[in-house]
Amino acid sequence: MLHDKTIILAISSSIAAYKSCEIVSQLKKLGAEVWVVMTREATNLVTPLTFRTLSGNPVICDLFSPELSKIPVPHISLTKKADLLLIAPCTANIIGKIASGIADDALTTMVLASSCQKLIAPAMNPLMWNNVVVGDNVKRLKKLNFEFIGPEEGKLACGDEDIGRMSEPEAIVSKAASLLVAKQDLAGKHILVTAGGTREAIDPVRYISNRSSGRMGYSLATAARERGASVTLISGPTNLSAPLDIKPIIVESAGGMLEAVMDYYNNANAVIMAAAVADYTTRKVQSTNQSKIKKSNKNLELVLRPTQDILATLSKQKGRKGRVLVGFALETHDLIENAKKKLKAKDLDLVVANDPKTFDSDAIKFSIIDKKGKISAFPQLAKSQAAHMILDRVSAYVR
Ligand SMILES: Cc1cc2nc3c(=O)[nH]c(=O)nc-3n(C[C@H](O)[C@H](O)[C@H](O)COP(=O)(O)O)c2cc1C
Repeated sequence: MLHDKTIILAISSSIAAYKSCEIVSQLKKLGAEVWVVMTREATNLVTPLTFRTLSGNPVICDLFSPELSKIPVPHISLTKKADLLLIAPCTANIIGKIASGIADDALTTMVLASSCQKLIAPAMNPLMWNNVVVGDNVKRLKKLNFEFIGPEEGKLACGDEDIGRMSEPEAIVSKAASLLVAKQDLAGKHILVTAGGTREAIDPVRYISNRSSGRMGYSLATAARERGASVTLISGPTNLSAPLDIKPIIVESAGGMLEAVMDYYNNANAVIMAAAVADYTTRKVQSTNQSKIKKSNKNLELVLRPTQDILATLSKQKGRKGRVLVGFALETHDLIENAKKKLKAKDLDLVVANDPKTFDSDAIKFSIIDKKGKISAFPQLAKSQAAHMILDRVSAYVR
C-alpha cells in the first residue's frame, strides 16, 4: 500500500514514544521507507538503536553526527524525498516550537525544511493539553495545514484519566495511509453532511439540546473532502474547528437545519445525516416569548411538539436523480432492530447504528445496514477511520 512512499517519523520525549516502535513496524509492513528522527530528550525514553533496527535506517538525533556523513545536508535531502512527516508522539514543547518557527534541533529543523504533508499525534498530560498556550499553538498549526490525530481520553502514564493519550499506533498508521493514498472516488460529487446537536429555545437564554459533539459529522466531511468530493457541512453549534477547506454552515434549531438542508439538497449526490436533530421542539407559546422566564416556586411545564423529520422529508423528494440517503440511528436498546425500522420507514440507502457511548468521544463502534438488510459490524474505531469505512459504502451507491 505504501510501497513508493517515504515517511519521516519524528519522535519527541513523551512516554508514549515506546508506541512509536509499533508505528515503525506497521509502516514498514505496508512497504514504506521509514526514517526516524528523535529529540535528544526522546533518546532517554527509547534508544535510537531500537528504531535503527526496526527502520533499517540510521536514526537522526543530531544533524552533525558522523553517522550521517554519507547523507549530504540531511535535513534538506531527506525532507525533499519525504511524502509525509509524522510526529508521534508530539510533545507540547515541539508543538510550541513548530508553531513559532524554531529550528534548534534535528527534528524541528526538518519540520521547518519540509514541504510534504505533516501529521501530528500529540501526547501530554491533560493540564498541558488544556493550557491555552498549547491550544493556541495547535490552532495555528491546523490553520497552516498540519493534520492532527488525537489525543484521546484514557488512562495516562501520570495516573490521570483524561484527555492526553497518544492515539493508538493502528489509528495513526491508518490516518497516515489515508493521507498518502486517499482514494479520489468521490471526485466530482457533492456530499452534504450534517453534524452536531440542535438547540430548541425555551426562552431567549435557555434551550433543550443533546450530547452530540459533532465529531462524527466533521470527520465525515473531512474524509469526503480528502476523497475529492465538494462538501457542504451543515452543523449545529459545536466546539470544533472548521475542517480544512470547508466552511461549515452553522444552524441553531431543527427547523434551521431543515431549511439549510433543503437549500443544498438539490445539488447533492448524497446526504449523510450525522446530526442529532431534536425530535421535539418547544411550542410557540415559549419560543415566541421574547423575555426570560422568571424563576418562581411553581412547577414549569414545557409543552413540546414534534419537529419535521428531515430524512423523511428528503426521502419523499429523492426523485429521479437517485440521491443517496444515509441516516444514523443511535439507540439505547434493540439497536439493530430499531436501526432497521428507521432504514425502512425513511427509505434510506444506508443506516449507521451506534449507541450513546459515541457521544463526545473520538471513537465509535458501529454497524452499517444496507437496504437488503445486510449488516456489517465494525470494531471500535477512531471517528476519522470510521468516516472512511462509511464513505466506502456511500461511494458504491453514488452515481
Ligand atoms: C517521563 C517523562 C514523560 C514525559 N511525557 C511528556 C509527554 O507525554 N508530553 C509532553 O509534552 N511532555 C512530556 N514530558 C516533558 C518533556 O519531556 C519536556 O518538556 C522536554 O523538554 C520536551 O523535549 P522535546 O520536546 O524536545 O522532546 C515528559 C517528561 C518526562 C520526564
